[in-house]
Amino acid sequence: MSRNRDAASTGESPAGPILRFDGVGMRYGRAAEVLRDVNFDLAPGSFHFLTGPSGAGKSSLLKLIYLAERPSRGTIEMFGRDVEAVALADRPFLRRRIGVVFQEFRLLDHLTAFDNVALPLRIEGGKPESYRADVAELLAWVGLKNRMHALPPTLSGGEKQRLAIARAVVNRPDILLADEPTGNVDDAHALRILKLFVELNRLGTTVLIASHDEDLVARSGQPVLHLDKGRLRAFGRNVRQEPGA
Ligand SMILES: Nc1ncnc2c1ncn2[C@@H]1O[C@H](COP(=O)(O)OP(=O)(O)OP(=O)(O)O)[C@@H](O)[C@H]1O
Ligand SMILES: [Mg+2]
Repeated sequence: MSRNRDAASTGESPAGPILRFDGVGMRYGRAAEVLRDVNFDLAPGSFHFLTGPSGAGKSSLLKLIYLAERPSRGTIEMFGRDVEAVALADRPFLRRRIGVVFQEFRLLDHLTAFDNVALPLRIEGGKPESYRADVAELLAWVGLKNRMHALPPTLSGGEKQRLAIARAVVNRPDILLADEPTGNVDDAHALRILKLFVELNRLGTTVLIASHDEDLVARSGQPVLHLDKGRLRAFGRNVRQEPGA
């Protein structure tokens, strides 16, 4: 697969971070902040795990990145641009550069595996003949060649997970986010899923995976952003340590 845009076509300076959190706080409604003073940079092409106990704020941090929530303070820059300064009309373009594998998959049960993956391309106005081969190749890549015409309710947990990964990357996102992608699968399957992420990362995609799976995180050898009660305790490269951490 050669799925990624080259650096030149993404428009940002190749030296700068692809994602930057600067003094970011977040709250739901009027409740106390669930993220506090979060500072970090992700370099283009990096691969990090996001770890931390339940309730630490991992999913909330991912929601900020895929623009489902807004920070209550601080700045988030993506592709060198302040996200808040991006016009509402341009947000879908920004959002399209971010692939998300949701914990609960969010597959459409009435569409086949093929059509679930093809949907983002259809929405963009692609004609079936233009994407059929790409979608089939992607499904083969995640090991679902023989399940292409199956409906999601008839797939196993691991198959659904791999289908969700295929759908998340069909638009060739620059950043891939995954929320507990190995939460419901056995160890062998978790490794298989990790391999897919590693391969995507080798092709240039920046990867950030929220995971409880300490074993998998340790085995991967990838650097870790560790959240604890909404604060980032960061380890690994490409990370600015927060003041006082
Ligand atoms: N939609 C919401 N409305 C209000 N509070 C929320 C909402 N979603 C999450 N929270 C709260 O925000 C905090 C962080 O939750 P979050 O889901 O980000 O944690 P997490 O690290 O992903 O946990 P887990 O490992 O259990 O998935 C928790 O205190 C949670 O109760
Ligand atoms: Mg979560």
